[in-house]
Parts: sequence; C-alpha cells; structure tokens
Amino acid sequence: MCGIVAYVGQRQAAEIIIKGLKRLEYRGYDSTGIALLNKGLNVYKKKGKVAELESFLKDKNLNSTIGMGHTRWATHGEPNDENAHPHYSATKKLAIIHNGIIENYGSLKQELIRKGHVFESETDTEVFIHFIEDIKENEKCSLDEAVRLALTKVVGAYAIVVMSLEDPNLLIAARKGSPLVIGVGKDEFFMASDATPIIEYTNEVIYLNDQEIAIINNGKLTVKNTANLPLTPYVQTVDLELEAIEKGGYDHFMIKEIFEQPRSIHDCMRGRLDSSTGRLILGGLREYINKLVNADRIVIVACGTSWHAGLVAEYFFEEFCRIPVEVEYASEFRYRNPVIREGDVVIAISQSGETADTLAAIELAKSKGAIIFGVCNVVGSSIPRATHAGAYTHAGPEIGVASTKAFTAQLTVLNMIALSVAHKKGTITEQKYHEMLTEMENIPAKVETALKLNDQIKTIATEFKDSRNFLYLGRGYNFPVALEGALKLKEISYIHAEGYPAAEMKHGPIALIDAEMPVVFIATKDSSYEKVVSNIQEVKARKGRVISVVTEGDTIIPKMSDYVIEVPATIDSLMPLVSVVPLQLLSYHIAVMRGCNVDQPRNLAKSVTVE
Ligand code: G6P
Repeated sequence: MCGIVAYVGQRQAAEIIIKGLKRLEYRGYDSTGIALLNKGLNVYKKKGKVAELESFLKDKNLNSTIGMGHTRWATHGEPNDENAHPHYSATKKLAIIHNGIIENYGSLKQELIRKGHVFESETDTEVFIHFIEDIKENEKCSLDEAVRLALTKVVGAYAIVVMSLEDPNLLIAARKGSPLVIGVGKDEFFMASDATPIIEYTNEVIYLNDQEIAIINNGKLTVKNTANLPLTPYVQTVDLELEAIEKGGYDHFMIKEIFEQPRSIHDCMRGRLDSSTGRLILGGLREYINKLVNADRIVIVACGTSWHAGLVAEYFFEEFCRIPVEVEYASEFRYRNPVIREGDVVIAISQSGETADTLAAIELAKSKGAIIFGVCNVVGSSIPRATHAGAYTHAGPEIGVASTKAFTAQLTVLNMIALSVAHKKGTITEQKYHEMLTEMENIPAKVETALKLNDQIKTIATEFKDSRNFLYLGRGYNFPVALEGALKLKEISYIHAEGYPAAEMKHGPIALIDAEMPVVFIATKDSSYEKVVSNIQEVKARKGRVISVVTEGDTIIPKMSDYVIEVPATIDSLMPLVSVVPLQLLSYHIAVMRGCNVDQPRNLAKSVTVE
C-alpha cells in the first residue's frame, strides 16, 4: 500500500509526479504529498486525494526538475496533513517517501528523542529519515552510505526514495518487501511503485530487488546491495500500453474491467490452449509440472478475491486431478506452524504479486522445503520472483480496487493447470479433456452474453440499492462465487453482505430472513441444483426477496424468485467464470447508485503490502 513516484531529468518534475500519483492512487488515498527542489527542499502535503493536493499546489512555485511524491494508505498515525509523506529530517535538509512499515521504529524513536530529536508526525517514516540523518552526521559519511547503514538496522518492509537539499541532482532509492521500479529514459530517470507512471515516457525499466539501493547522481545510475556490493542492474522492456491504464470512455475502471473480461480470459488462454490439437501448455510450469502431477497434496495460499479463486480451484483440482487440496488465508497459514511434507506443492495466487501476507506465506513454505507455484497478474512483481515456477494471468492492469477481471483470469489459469496435470496424470478421460478445452474456448463468448444483462441488472440494483444487508448463497462450484459476490458488494457499496453455502443457511443465517432481506442465489443447473431449489423455497417461505442467477431456459427457479438473471449454460467447473459476472455488475450498479467511490472504496487499497 502507498504509492511512490520520483523523477530527475530535464522535464518539470511536478507534472510527472502528480500524473504518476493519480495512476498509483489505487494503492492508497488517505493523503498525498510532493517534495521539490527549488530555492530549498520544499514539501507540500495534504490529507485526501491527489486532486486535493493539486488544488493546494495551484499558487505554489513548482519549478523543479527533480522531485518525489507519495500517496498514502495510513498505517502509523491517522490520515492527516502531518502524517502525510514526504517527511523531513531534523534539519529539513533531507526528505523521504516510504511504502511499508518499519517495525522497530519505536525503539529507534526513543533513542532519537533521547538525543533531542523532535517529531512532527506519528509515523515510522519520519523516524526513518531522522535516523538516516543521525547516522550521516555521526559517521560523517555520504548520504548513500548513511542510507545503507540505516537499512542494515531497520526491521520491516520498505520502498523508499530520499532527496537532499545539498545534492540537487541526487535521488536514492531502496527496497525490501515493497515494490520499486526504475524507468530509464534518455538523461532522465523515473521511480515508482509500479510501471504505470513510467510507461508514458520510457518502457525500459529496472525492477529493484530486495536489499538493493539505487543511486541516481548527476544523471548516472549505480546499484549496490545493503552489504555494499556493486551490482549490474538488469534493464528490461516492459510491455504495457498507455490505453490499458486509462478509462477508455467508461465512467469507472471497475466497469471497464468487468467489460474487458471476454478479452482478458481470451488473452489468458492465447498461445497456451488449442482445442483443435488438444494442446495445453503453460510455458512457466513446464519444468515443474511433474511436481504437481506427483503431488500428495496441494496447499493454496492467497488473500481476498484471490482466496476465492483458490476455493474454486480446490474443487476442480480434486475433481480432475484427484489430489487433496487445502486453501488457506495466507495470513493464517504463516502464523501457525503448518505441516508441509515432501510431496506437497504450494500454489500462491495474487493479482498484484505484492501482497505481504502471501509473500510471507511463500517464504515460510519455502523454508520448509515446499515447491511453490505462483499465479499472478502483475509481471515482474515480487511473488513471481519468489516462486519456483508459475503462470501469469495476463489480464492486463487492474486498477479498480475491487478485483474483477483478475479473478476470472485466475480461474482460467488454474483450470488450465488442473487440466494439464489431470491429462498427464491420467485422471481425466481423453473425451472429458477435449470437451473441457473446447468449452474453455467458448467461455469468452459466454461472458460476453452475460454482460448483455447489464441493463437488466441495473434495474434490479435500483430495487435493492437501499438494502442494509444481503445474503449470497450457492453450492458446489457456486459457493465461492457466493463469497465473491458478497465481498464485491460490501467492499464498494458498504452494504453488509455475507456469502454462505446454501445448505448451511439452515444453521444460522435463516434467522435473519424476513421481507427486508435480499437473498442472491447462484443456482445454475449443476449436480446440486435440486437441493438449491429447496433452499430457495425455504427462503421464500420466510418472505425473503430472492434474486436468482440461473442457467438459460430454467423453468423452475424463475417461478419462485422475485428476480431472475439468466446466464449461458456451461460445464460445472467453468460456471464461476460466467456466474460471477452478474454479481460484479450488481455490486457496481448498487455502489454507483449509492454515490460511492467505486474505484477507490474507503479504507481499502488494492495492493496490501503491509501484514
Ligand atoms: C486487497 C484487494 C483485493 C485483493 C486482495 C488480495 O484486499 O482490495 O481486491 O483480492 O487485496 O490481493 P492480491 O493482489 O494478492 O490478489
């Protein structure tokens, strides 16, 4: 969480930084700030979003070709002007921006207070820059050496950029646990939490690794590690189009991303799956596929929506591969002493590839000798680099905080992995295998059909926009979809919503049902269809208001539902790819009607880089 941007070159830094911060706002939007060098090291910062900082900057002198900016998701200290970044050092000759958490900041702060330091904010970051300056003064060393020494003493996660009044052509950056990308232009450099603020100017980038320090001084970049060893940075070309990170005529990124799904699912399969030849190859897994084929158990770790994708995967890995699967919240997995045996394979799922808990779970599993596969969307992010093998979802940048197209792309990749393992293992018949490949190729068109329900769903949203609670029920493959539907609604519309396995309703949630309670049933035709029909009757008998997502042509459920949403038929294991679409649309329209900030819901951030 938190986004950082910095620039040094010949252009006006402020313009580049403000534009970059807007692209990184998905990482947090509690406060924003910028530091520029002109007649002093000037810091301007404000509670609120980038737009508020922009109006605050209107009458300021922003003339500077070096600068850095920050958009914050608050961890230490409430979101206010004082706690906003950048933070000054004691003499105000240095400034810092920081994404991450310094865990030992309390003891460092006490030590500095004893030495007479006075702090203006409650943040760990301000302590960090005071500490760096203290080292510089005591050791009488260069700033980059002081940064390096400080990094050997701090505990926690960070991506930082430091600027100095005395070195007007110097930017120092470092990372451990939080992402940092350096854009290499012609006589100019960019730094950012991801590549989106950079690609407009250059597609040559360096992904800084953990424990690395980048020093840009007078137009020259050098990289070393915290052990002071010089390194040769690896410059790579990033393949990202500007239009992919813009709204392209839609009102919000979320709706754009929902409508992109036929394409993103297709892109995810492109070059990997061909039903006419029976070809199914995920290049990144090739070397390790036998580990999965021979696995005694698969443990899936993830958070949020990615965890829901993991739950769906549990069903199809067990169905097709006959391998036992456990799906764990990464945050829980890492704080117990999980049993990992030889023969276990861990799959980590993450859109951003930066989620701190998922990364920590990977490190824990690795330390116990597990083979780790990653399923990630953001190319070059930390998780793909921490795993043994993996497959990208290729959904393109997802900017709306609520995940949509990343979820369906995750399901697509996981389905492909399960099918190739099952085929190799012989736990799926040739006929079923070919049937699955063919149907996977049909999914983008079926999602396209589901998207045509948009207007109908908007009408349903009008009816329910003022509800205070929602229940989402589904069974089998549609149970995780119920969880995902409820999560989407609560995160962007702030309506309380719960997802439940339909049959479990009898063990508690049924007590909540009355004429005020909308119940969304994901009740497509599958092996548990008859049972779900009974569950709907149980809700109707208690006057609940039923919205049912059913398979096209269903004649039974429409008779007992208040509202019916018909989606195209598909194979059970692929149904979540289709049945989740109306739920995404329902939450989107309800949130818009309630006047909520759909792309940036309160208190949330897209990339959760704190534990
Ligand atoms: C945050 C986001 C969710 C996402 C979750 C896991 O909570 O708001 O949309 O599902 O993090 O993120 P990841 O990037 O690991 O999939």
